[in-house]
Amino acid sequence: MKLNFLFLTAAIILASCTPKSPEGESPVAKEADKKQIVAETILNRHSIRSFKPEQVPQEVIDTLLRTAINAPSANNKQPWEIRVIQKVEILDKIKALNAGIFHNSPTVIVIAKDKNNPSADLDCGILSQTIMLAAESMDLGTCPLGGLGRLLTTPEAKEITDSLELPEDYEVILAISLGYKNETPEAKPRDASKIKYIN
Ligand SMILES: Cc1cc2nc3c(=O)[nH]c(=O)nc-3n(C[C@H](O)[C@H](O)[C@H](O)COP(=O)(O)O)c2cc1C
Repeated sequence: MKLNFLFLTAAIILASCTPKSPEGESPVAKEADKKQIVAETILNRHSIRSFKPEQVPQEVIDTLLRTAINAPSANNKQPWEIRVIQKVEILDKIKALNAGIFHNSPTVIVIAKDKNNPSADLDCGILSQTIMLAAESMDLGTCPLGGLGRLLTTPEAKEITDSLELPEDYEVILAISLGYKNETPEAKPRDASKIKYIN
């Protein structure tokens, strides 16, 4: 909340101090607005663990994912596979193994990594955060699901994982729940002392 207020104040100050173009529009202020939108998206994303039952339309998810695959990856190898699960039968099978593991979101996105690519863990992590930020920018809720990612690599989940039709040498690394938010959680604290300047 405080940080949002700071960004807003900074943007207002910047906008009021910058020279206006003949049309009355300040290019610097416009740039500040753009930066603020990105910062606000990052600050407003929180893990969502309660979702509305309405399904997110496939074309919305398509826009979201086609945006998110612009995430960087080492040598642009894109060592990931993305599966979008909306099929109730599959979601029920996951629930049968662990009822609360995906917070009952109507959509679950599964990220699998290329086991032969040494950067795949990092690249899939960056992709996952990009998916979650793109979702936040569209006012959709997400929660990273390490637990489901692990479950999908176990023998008991083989039937579910087989239905994802992953290429050989690919392995599930993370899942992400996706849906319309049904809660507005507070931001969790972050430890700024982990940032150090070596001057
Ligand atoms: C790799 C990873 C795995 C996670 N796995 C789970 C999970 O299985 N279930 C869950 O509810 N949250 C999971 N989380 C969410 C974290 O608990 C959450 O990101 C953290 O508490 C910070 O809260 P925030 O996301 O609201 O900022 C995971 C997060 C990450 C990055």
